[in-house]
Amino acid sequence: MQEFTKNDKMVHLVQANHNLLPVIHRFGIRLGFGNRTVEELCLAYEVNSDFFLAIVNTFNNKNFFPKDRLLSFSPLLLVDYLKKTHQYYIDYSLPRIEKLIHRLLLSTPKQNSEMQMIEKFYLSYKKKLIEHFDEEEQDVFPVVEKLVLHPEEVKNTSFDSNFEEEHEHVDFELDDLKNIILKYLVPEYDELVCNKLMEEICHFERDIHDHSRMEDAILIPQVKQLLNAVE
Ligand SMILES: [Fe+2]
Ligand SMILES: [Fe+2]
Repeated sequence: MQEFTKNDKMVHLVQANHNLLPVIHRFGIRLGFGNRTVEELCLAYEVNSDFFLAIVNTFNNKNFFPKDRLLSFSPLLLVDYLKKTHQYYIDYSLPRIEKLIHRLLLSTPKQNSEMQMIEKFYLSYKKKLIEHFDEEEQDVFPVVEKLVLHPEEVKNTSFDSNFEEEHEHVDFELDDLKNIILKYLVPEYDELVCNKLMEEICHFERDIHDHSRMEDAILIPQVKQLLNAVE
């Protein structure tokens, strides 16, 4: 798979993979790209183009993970990107999935207990996921920001994270949600809504997997390194 470069037209990125559009938005870069290249638009929006390309290329190709390059950027860039990603999940991805589950349930003739189980499972998943985001935003991201900006204030802070484990749960539970729908949905339902829901869940699964990978493989090692440096 190709690797996008600074000289590529931004339009080309979205034409190659329309799923990149939300990622581009997370950097504050808006449509109306004209003929401008990645480098020109990053400059106009004051975005670090090397970091932008590392994120976009990683998102675009699951086999591409330039670990050393990603580790070399300031953790502040990554924290900012991760926060915007959480916001995107809360504002768009989760509500879209929720609405589709609801429409799917309404499209069946009767609401039996299996059908209600689908909605219940999803709601409990969403609750746990939002708690996970909150924990990261309250306990992890501020420590990273402090370590970079005011390291003297963070002396003697221990940092234990079980995020890798939590991230595995996030993956498993999305898979379970798909399986529950595939196994228990009653045969009378709106086919279009069902297809769209499966598409959304798979899309979200890929996105959040990429997000968790950034946290496990890049952010956590960066935090540990910064903590070692202040000790
Ligand atoms: Fe996160
Ligand atoms: Fe996470």
